[in-house]
Amino acid sequence: MSTPTPTILSGIKPSGQPTLGNYLGAYLPFSRFLAKRTHNVFMMVADHHAITVRQDPKELTENTYAIAAWYIASGLNPDDCTLFVQSHVPEHAQLGWILTTFTQMGELARMTQYKDKSKGENEAVGAGLFMYPSLMAADILLYDTTEVPVGDDQTQHVELCRDIATRMNNLYGPDTFVLPKAVKPVAAQRVRDLQNPLKKMSKSEAGEGGCIMLEDETSAITKKIKRAVTDTLAEVAYDPANQPGLANLIEILAACSHRTPKEVVKEFKGSQYGPLKGAVAEAVVQTLEPVQAEYAKLMADKAELQNILAKGAKKAREKAAQTLGRVMTKVGYVLPR
Ligand code: TRP
Repeated sequence: MSTPTPTILSGIKPSGQPTLGNYLGAYLPFSRFLAKRTHNVFMMVADHHAITVRQDPKELTENTYAIAAWYIASGLNPDDCTLFVQSHVPEHAQLGWILTTFTQMGELARMTQYKDKSKGENEAVGAGLFMYPSLMAADILLYDTTEVPVGDDQTQHVELCRDIATRMNNLYGPDTFVLPKAVKPVAAQRVRDLQNPLKKMSKSEAGEGGCIMLEDETSAITKKIKRAVTDTLAEVAYDPANQPGLANLIEILAACSHRTPKEVVKEFKGSQYGPLKGAVAEAVVQTLEPVQAEYAKLMADKAELQNILAKGAKKAREKAAQTLGRVMTKVGYVLPR
C-alpha cells in the first residue's frame, strides 16, 4: 500500500464516567496530538464495547454523551478531528463480524484481559467479552489507522489486530489493510489505583477511594490523594518497582504540570510525602477545574451534542464505508448496488 496518512484512533467505553486515568492516558495526549496537526485523529465512544458487560440503559445513554463531552471539554475541537459514537457507524459491526471469522479461538483465549475478566465464570461469561478484540480490530482497521495510543492493558489487543490484518493481507494482498502499531501515550502511561498501585486506575477495578473520577469535586479529589497508599521508606524517589504508590503520585503530578517524573523528584527531594501529596492534589484540581466547567456546559445542551456527534459520524462513515467496501470486495462479497 502507498505510504498511509499518519492516523491515530482511540476508543473509550461508556461503561461509566471517565477517570483521571482516561484523562491523562487518552484525552490529554490526544489534545496534544491534535495541536500538532501531524495526524488524522479519530476518537470514538465505544458503546458496542460497553455492552460486553451488562449496562443499565439510562446510564449507558448518559455515559455515551458524557464520554463525548469529556473529549471535547479536554480540548479536542470536533472540527479538527472525527469524534463519533461507534454504533452510529454501522461499518464497525459489519467489519467486526468479518474479522471474527479470521480470528482464532486460541488467540482470543490467550488475551489476558479476557482471562482476568472471565475468571471463575467460564461458562456464564458473555460471548461478546470473548470476541471483543476482533471488534476492536475492526475499529482500528476501518480508518487505515497507523497508530493506536493505548495503555499496557490494551497492547495485546493491538498486537492481535496486527496478526489478523497480516493474515488477511497474506490471503488477499498487502493493500487490504494498513498495519497499525500500538504507541504509548505521552502523558502518564498507566495511572494506577491510589489504594492499590499495582492495579490500573479504573472505575471497574477500583475499590473505594482509589479512583479519581473526572467529575469528582475538589474535596473528594483532595481526600483521595491525601489517603493514597505510599510506603514506609519515607524518601521521595521515583522507583516504580519498590515505591509504586509514590511513583504513581509523581507521575500524576508530572503529567498535570507538564514535567517529567525526574523534575518532580528534584523539586521534592528531602521533603516528606505530605507536601508532595498536597502538590499532587492541587495540580489535579487545577488541571480538572476548567475541563469540568466546559463539560457541564456541554452536557446542559444535548441537542448541540447530538449535532456534533452527527457531524462526526458522517465524517467517520465516509472513510469506514470505503474501507469496508474494499475488504468485502477482496473477500468476494457481492456488494449491493
Ligand atoms: N478496548 C478499549 C478499552 O477497553 C476501548 C477500545 C475499543 C479501543 N476500541 C478501541 C481502544 C480501538 C483503542 C482502539 O479500553
